[in-house]
Amino acid sequence: SGPLRTHAAGRGKFIGTALATGPLSNETQYRTIAGQEFNQVTAENAMKWESTEPSQGQFTFSGADAIVDFATQNNQQVHGHTLVWHSQTPGWVQGLNATAMRSAMQNHISQVVGRYASNPAVVSWDVVNEVFDDNGNMRTSFWYNTLGSSYIADAFRAARAADSNARLCINDYNVEGINAKSTAMYNLVSSLRQQGVPVDCVGFQGHLAIQYGFPGQVQQNLQRFADLGVQVRITELDVRMQMPRDATKDTTQATYYRNVVNACLAVTACAGITIWGFTDRYSWVGDTFPGEGAALIYNESYQQKPSYTAVHDALAGG
Ligand code: G3I
Repeated sequence: SGPLRTHAAGRGKFIGTALATGPLSNETQYRTIAGQEFNQVTAENAMKWESTEPSQGQFTFSGADAIVDFATQNNQQVHGHTLVWHSQTPGWVQGLNATAMRSAMQNHISQVVGRYASNPAVVSWDVVNEVFDDNGNMRTSFWYNTLGSSYIADAFRAARAADSNARLCINDYNVEGINAKSTAMYNLVSSLRQQGVPVDCVGFQGHLAIQYGFPGQVQQNLQRFADLGVQVRITELDVRMQMPRDATKDTTQATYYRNVVNACLAVTACAGITIWGFTDRYSWVGDTFPGEGAALIYNESYQQKPSYTAVHDALAGG
């Protein structure tokens, strides 16, 4: 018994959730669980470029502020997500030439990070997100195609200039286990740090699916990054399945959740685990993977699932 956050805090870790501004503004049950169970939050969409700077130089922070205010009221840390990404970035950015794109990026980072630099709730940022393809090559996004890989170091330097205390992360998916993509990430982080680029943290998203198996060597992978001197964290955990749910799939899903939590608990430099939402009522999965779903730890009517118990018991040391 007792909420997840109490057990996580007892282990020196955070347990977090992504928050969507819609239900946060109008669903009591959503707010209650989000506040009671978690000691860390990430904006699911509200801090992305399309939300914070939809037209050049026009910044809108209503959604981002709503998340930060909620977190402050509930004594939660906020992880800023995300400054430089190829998705959910307005067309006006994508069409700029190299010089203009670099300065738009630096200005965006300066304004968004700067807004929260003195806010004690906001402690970390995903500075760049998803820079790799699954084979470990750099993703040929508009960022890379226009600026080459130099945009990554420039983004971290701009973030550090805007907030000297925030923990600055690089974040990706399919990097939880040891594979070509996580090794490319490892080499990049190692090389950036050797050059003095302020990368403090690596985020492992953790978008898992029971039908693809559990990734290999998660704890060892987290540890090899930790040995580079960075903090590590699970940033977007969910475990989807082919619908409909059944008891067998729920049990497998619970095992995946438990394994991820235990891997983080076993690595001192792992700061915590953020789940990408908490209720199956609100999840990105069904829109992106038709026929899949039920990826979270509460069902659509806010009842706890076996995956909740797995996270709870792992954090409680069971
Ligand atoms: O804002 C519009 C709204 O105006 C419109 O009425 C509505 C109608 O569909 O769409 C709204 O935009 C949606 C947006 O979420 C906000 O709800 C987009 O269509 C939808 O594509 C977008 O999906 C988000 C997705 O990122 C976009 O790539 C998901 O909510 C969000 O969970 C997901 O999160 C990403 C992480 O940021 C990075 N890692 C992967 C993860 C899962 O894809």
